[in-house]
Amino acid sequence: MWSRYLFGVVDFFVKLRDNRTHMPFFEAEIKTWEDYLRAYERSERSNAEFWAAVADTFHWYERWHTVVEGDFARGEARWFSGARTNLCYNGLDRHLPDLAQKPALIWEPNDPQDASVTLTYEQLYQQVCRFSRVLDQLGVKKGDRVCLYMPMIPEAVVAMLACARIGAVHTVVFGGFSTAALADRINDAQCKLLITADGAFRGDKIVPLKFMADRAFFDCLSVEATVVVRRTGEEVNLAANEYWWHEEMEKQTPERPAEILDAEDPLFILYTSGSTGKPKGVLHTVGGYMTYVGYTFRNVFQPKKDDVFWCTADVGWITGHSYAVYGPLLNGATTLIFEGVPHWPDGGRLWDVCDKHKVNIFYTAPTAIRSLMTFGDKQFENKSLATLRTLGSVGEPINVEAWEWYHQKVGGGKLPITDTWWQTETGGIMIAPIAGITPAVPTYATFPLPGIFPVLLDGAGKEQKYEGPTVYGNLCISKPWPGLARTTYGDHKRFVETYFSTYPGYYFTGDGCFRDEHGYRITGRVDDVVNVSGHRIGTAEVENAINEHPTALESAVVGFPHEVKGQGVHAFVLVVETPEHPEKLADEIRAEVVKNIGSFAKPERITFVQGLPKTRSGKIMRRILRKIAAGQTDDFGDVSTLLDPAVVHDIAGLKYY
Ligand code: WT7
Repeated sequence: MWSRYLFGVVDFFVKLRDNRTHMPFFEAEIKTWEDYLRAYERSERSNAEFWAAVADTFHWYERWHTVVEGDFARGEARWFSGARTNLCYNGLDRHLPDLAQKPALIWEPNDPQDASVTLTYEQLYQQVCRFSRVLDQLGVKKGDRVCLYMPMIPEAVVAMLACARIGAVHTVVFGGFSTAALADRINDAQCKLLITADGAFRGDKIVPLKFMADRAFFDCLSVEATVVVRRTGEEVNLAANEYWWHEEMEKQTPERPAEILDAEDPLFILYTSGSTGKPKGVLHTVGGYMTYVGYTFRNVFQPKKDDVFWCTADVGWITGHSYAVYGPLLNGATTLIFEGVPHWPDGGRLWDVCDKHKVNIFYTAPTAIRSLMTFGDKQFENKSLATLRTLGSVGEPINVEAWEWYHQKVGGGKLPITDTWWQTETGGIMIAPIAGITPAVPTYATFPLPGIFPVLLDGAGKEQKYEGPTVYGNLCISKPWPGLARTTYGDHKRFVETYFSTYPGYYFTGDGCFRDEHGYRITGRVDDVVNVSGHRIGTAEVENAINEHPTALESAVVGFPHEVKGQGVHAFVLVVETPEHPEKLADEIRAEVVKNIGSFAKPERITFVQGLPKTRSGKIMRRILRKIAAGQTDDFGDVSTLLDPAVVHDIAGLKYY
């Protein structure tokens, strides 16, 4: 009782103080092409001053003493040192004086027959406070890691914000990951709590999340308690330390002050794939991430006061974190989240949702667009799409056909498409047209946002300056920005090695890129990462999964061009002799991948080989396998460094399963 009273008093003073700086809704700073140029010039003159001015648009309990410090070249740049803030406070509490009754979150369920849910800023705030108290009660403290393995339901957003509120570090694992992948992530982050659901609806299927999590627990000793949301009604068994979400929520009061955190306190860990086997826990911090995501959301998408913003990404990916949850809420916007899939019950589902909720800004991945293209124009029958004003694309290079279709069919030939390039590690959008303001050119991410300094470097690290015709190189960033991840969890050496050692002095993105008069055009990964339907998949991870099969002696995985998915996974599997039942073996191998990673990483094509193209030092020459996977049968370039050059032609002639 006493403590509640005390909290109330503290909260009152915090709110009082905040009235100075609160703003009801954030408008973009950049409103014209000149604004963009001026902002960019300002950031060139002083990057620190530029970002300090942006940071000043948020609420800080205490201001920073230094804007940016530490050696960027060694992956050590730190932002807003000495400052104290809370992202959840900035995303909710601060809006309450003006926006309490404004919709913060609209949830559209999987089944169009079921009712959607709208939470106002006040309602979302109350739910988050209640769940923050549930976390308190379960002994979760500032700095503890909390794993979320959840469907796209409001509770996922509530859980993320509650973690941010109390200073716990969330790590969201996409519901499409397998039990084994979930266990790996829980163990790497040493999560103390798991939040999941009985199941997830996906179209006409149910994914039994709790059942999958139960099997992960055999390996996860760090987990002390589990909270389970009732969603699908699957039968689940709750052990002694497992609780129903709704029962725990009812017991709590809807007030809980936000923890006052350091700008550099960890906010979340999100696992992503790289060139080497183990997924990396990309760690973002409170102050820098908040500043970057808030700023990029309002400027790139140019939301108006009563807009409904819909980002189709799952909260299990960075796009879901930054633009389904944090970006919109930081700006007092209305965000829509969708539980279902684009093709169910029919191909018009996304457009129905746009009409039903009067969506103004729509942000999705090229894969979704390409797959909807195959459904023809029927999907637009009886759809108006009249409220749409801005379209966004993210996750993979968008091809001209998909860009044009999106522009014509969804955008009525009028709406601007902003093709946003960024990464899990960058926290937010880096290179993109500013919707309706800077030119949008098909397939180009165009120009960097203010405060972002891209450079293209050749293999030797020489800068490829754009001075006329097209230049090509590996995309790097030459100066720090607040949204960059701070480390890979538990392994800072790996962080430095992955991002700061290929090109000393630069952050290396892993992407290839063109630059011409239209700006930057990303061509795709130059490392051993494939992008399947916008999902980033490390080839080494898939190889490790395949090698679990007793018949697979070794394997090599590459991407091949795929009409809908962008890239597909092609696995070359080394076996002693030609299998008698190749289809059956291929299915078993796919099952290993589903078991170890998830079905989205399943190799579409498997070729059984009796030799792999290896150099004398034992490295697999993937360049050659990529060509074979793309259907090339000769002209493989220089194969003289191969141990056995003949192997190339043997493989090129083989059938895949
Ligand atoms: C990789 C990052 C952050 C968005 C979701 C994916 C590719 C991302 C684009 C784009 C071309 C893109 C890059 C990048 N990518 N956006 N607009 N055009 N390629 O995040 O899983 O961390 O993957 O996605 O290859 O490196 P991610």
